[in-house]
Amino acid sequence: MIMKMANPFSGLSEAVEENVALKPFTWYKIGGPARWFIRPRNVEELQEASKRCLENNIPVYVLGLGANLLVSDEGVNGAVFRLDHEFWRRVKFDKTSVEMGAGVDMQKLIVRTVRQGLAGIECLAGIPGTVGGGIRMNAGGKFGDFGAVVQKVHVMADDGTLFERTKDDLVFEYRSTNIAARFILGATIELEEDDPDRIMKRTKEIWMYKRNTQPLNTKNCGCIFKNPRGLSAGALIDQAGLKGFKVGGAEVSEKHANFIVAHPGCSASDVMKLVKIIREKVFEKNEIHLESEVQIWP
Ligand code: EPU
Repeated sequence: MIMKMANPFSGLSEAVEENVALKPFTWYKIGGPARWFIRPRNVEELQEASKRCLENNIPVYVLGLGANLLVSDEGVNGAVFRLDHEFWRRVKFDKTSVEMGAGVDMQKLIVRTVRQGLAGIECLAGIPGTVGGGIRMNAGGKFGDFGAVVQKVHVMADDGTLFERTKDDLVFEYRSTNIAARFILGATIELEEDDPDRIMKRTKEIWMYKRNTQPLNTKNCGCIFKNPRGLSAGALIDQAGLKGFKVGGAEVSEKHANFIVAHPGCSASDVMKLVKIIREKVFEKNEIHLESEVQIWP
């Protein structure tokens, strides 16, 4: 007799799918499937699904817009959570304060805040991601970062415990924060009143800078490496003569060397091999270890 394993997510079938391709959920459009794909519709469902993962030793991954993510070709033998139901996409304005769910698209948020005459997140123009991902990574660039406006973050631990982190105990650093809890559920940010035309002008300038210096119309995952302190990873890779260098379908962008572009047929393993070569070459030339910025699953 064949024994059927009990489904660890029984009773949660509305929110849980099995063996789901992750490719369409990433900007790279490469990589394997998720064993479990979970889209909770509210906090209770998220708590329950997360507890089941804990009880069954199922590794947990949280997916935002998949813009800074490389999923391996084998995929993920665990549970991938995506907070994309409308509950996680709510936005509430209260004068200069904005409260939102973790699933809000940062670019859509910028458009809304600019229209309201609220300044402070235009530095995020052109950076794809959700509010949850943006806080987790402290999204930003040379014009500023998300952490600067964050007042409060609602988080949840694996066992379903909910708590709040406030500005006084939050630390936002270069592409990182001191939030340890697995799930970011939402946040409140504080912006400043300004003239909508002026904010729009600044937003456009920042977006144009990105458009002129980065390969935006390609399949990529943003910058692959973090900038070493005081230096530019892009410039180091460029100086190592690697622009245009290819492994399979993966190529170091000619436009900005800290981007690896995926051409048709590119696999995640092509990208990983290229990452390794870039690291080795830059170390040979400058004795600098490049640290990856992109999240690699598993
Ligand atoms: N440079 C080169 N060759 C290149 C790329 C850059 O010589 O191929 C030089 C540029 O000429 C410039 C310097 O390196 O003098 C810095 O380049 P850039 O102005 O493009 O900024 P960056 O440090 O490479 C950072 C963020 C970007 C963000 C931009 C703009 C990191 C790793 N990168 O890039 O973030 O969009 O500033 O704000 O922090 C990302 O995080 O995914 C990302 C793309």
